[in-house]
Amino acid sequence: MPGKLPPEFLQELLSRVDIVDVIRNQVPLKKYGREFRASCPFHTERTPSFYVSPAKQFYHCFGCGESGTAISFLMKYSNLRFMDAIEELASIAGMEIPKNRTAGPSMGNTARLIQLMEEVQAAYKRELLRSDPESHVKSYFKNRGFKQKSAMHFGIGFAPERWDFILKKFGRSESDRSLLRKAGLVIRNDKGREYDRFRNRLMFPIHDRRGRVIAFGGRVLDSSEPKYLNSPETVLFRKSNELFGLFHAAKAIKDEGKAIIVEGYTDVLSLHQSGIENAVATLGTATTSYHIRELFRATDEIVFCFDGDRPGKIAAWRAMKSALTMMYDGRLVGFVFLPKGHDPDSFVRQNGTAEFQQLISNCEPIAEFIFRQLKGSADINRADGIGKLIKDITPILTQLPDSTLRELMKNELRKITGLSEDYLKKKFAPEVSHKRQVQTKLNKHDLSNRALALLIQNPSLSQLVEQAEHLIEFRRGQNSRLLVEVLSKLKANPGLNTAALIEEYRGTELFELVRTFADLEHFVPEDGLLEEFIGIIAKIEKLGNRHTARSKISELMKESRSSLEDAAKIQELLVESRKAKTKSFS
Ligand code: GTP
Ligand code: MN
Repeated sequence: MPGKLPPEFLQELLSRVDIVDVIRNQVPLKKYGREFRASCPFHTERTPSFYVSPAKQFYHCFGCGESGTAISFLMKYSNLRFMDAIEELASIAGMEIPKNRTAGPSMGNTARLIQLMEEVQAAYKRELLRSDPESHVKSYFKNRGFKQKSAMHFGIGFAPERWDFILKKFGRSESDRSLLRKAGLVIRNDKGREYDRFRNRLMFPIHDRRGRVIAFGGRVLDSSEPKYLNSPETVLFRKSNELFGLFHAAKAIKDEGKAIIVEGYTDVLSLHQSGIENAVATLGTATTSYHIRELFRATDEIVFCFDGDRPGKIAAWRAMKSALTMMYDGRLVGFVFLPKGHDPDSFVRQNGTAEFQQLISNCEPIAEFIFRQLKGSADINRADGIGKLIKDITPILTQLPDSTLRELMKNELRKITGLSEDYLKKKFAPEVSHKRQVQTKLNKHDLSNRALALLIQNPSLSQLVEQAEHLIEFRRGQNSRLLVEVLSKLKANPGLNTAALIEEYRGTELFELVRTFADLEHFVPEDGLLEEFIGIIAKIEKLGNRHTARSKISELMKESRSSLEDAAKIQELLVESRKAKTKSFS
């Protein structure tokens, strides 16, 4: 999303925040020479190959090829959108995001959208509060045993049975209505008619982790379908990234040292009423690694609570897979399967808080769960059954980080199968990432590639080159145009560091390429950096001269009927071009 924030702002921001601090907040970094090192948070590895360079304000992993700036890190690790990452960094740096930027379709509107969502939530809440005690919504609420206090706590409201409740209140102008559509609150049908998405539903607001309303889940009050209607994916809302109740549960999760993941909104509500405040719910999707990462930021223990039926088992297996890469020593993951026909809401109502707590503390630990499931689908009394077990457990073990859990699971596997340590070791070798393969395909001997790697990683080198435009005639290297462009940018703006330079390309097709150059550390020598760079630039200039001379010759040949004068000129140029050729290859 380039061009929407002034480049000076990005540059200032990236020079004020230190990527080392940003990453150290999430990943324990150890000093390693001029850089910092850690086990890569983006893939599983035994020896640390994730490096953070304070000089470049850039991170890169030699294992999986992930790399980028502080902005990329927040986007990838915390799964933030570009503008949210910017906001987070701006608050660290104590900077205001410029207001008068040229608003793109999504960014400039974010704040307006959130304001709208919160006003809409307030309107739904008022509807619930004001509704007649005998009304169907109040009766539904009472019949299910939900209390007024919990409704207030979670901000629950009611969307009345009207097609234009929201439309009328918030959609006076076309621009307001366009905002309502973007927020997913109003739908426009084929005939161009507009109407409220949520009608006659109990409204559960979905908050982001900062407590801002970003979406709604609406439940019908009878048995009609669909039971739940959620906001569509919007600029604000990605349903597989959010957890219902997380904002409200955050404190209890910290205090209890444990988070419980359940499946439904009403489960969270009901548990809360029973004094269990550390529960959150997925939004009708599978548990994703984003969910788990988010919870592991707050606590070291996660307990999944699923229904005891087959879909519950499948959901648990998926959840387990999403947790694997994050199972570092110190972290605990367990599973609870409720008795048939129960969900947490009905269970806690029927059996009370203490029994539910008991279930949670007796949860099945992740390793036991995995072995129980695998042994259930492979007969380990047969050689071919063991083959199946090995096949099934391979993706699990290769994803686990180098942890005690992994080691003990391998021990267990040896015990069960009788296979040798050597055999298992070979089986579970880590995979080579795709990114890494792409990276090694770049021609390292191409002059412009080498110049670009040196330059992007050491922007001050640009000051050694007198005029970037001198290199413009040089067309042979695949990335020579980019070289000229980067040089010009750096010469015009000597304050750009590696990170700010990369961010200038975000959203363009060159972004990945520029980031790759910033990452090619293994062929940038530590010593003799200046000499190497000057040498390469000189070669490029010479090649460029030769090229220029050649094209002048062919021009003259074409245009003139080779007079004597021209012949002399051509002769001169030929000599010059040959000189350049011999020099550049000496
Ligand atoms: P109650 O029936 O009111 O107790 O709700 P529940 O939360 O127990 O519902 P259920 O266990 O059937 O579903 C769990 C979660 O899946 C819900 O909270 C929703 O997030 C989601 N879900 C269930 N039914 C639907 C549906 O029809 N559409 C969508 N989009 N999501 C649904
Ligand atoms: Mn339920």
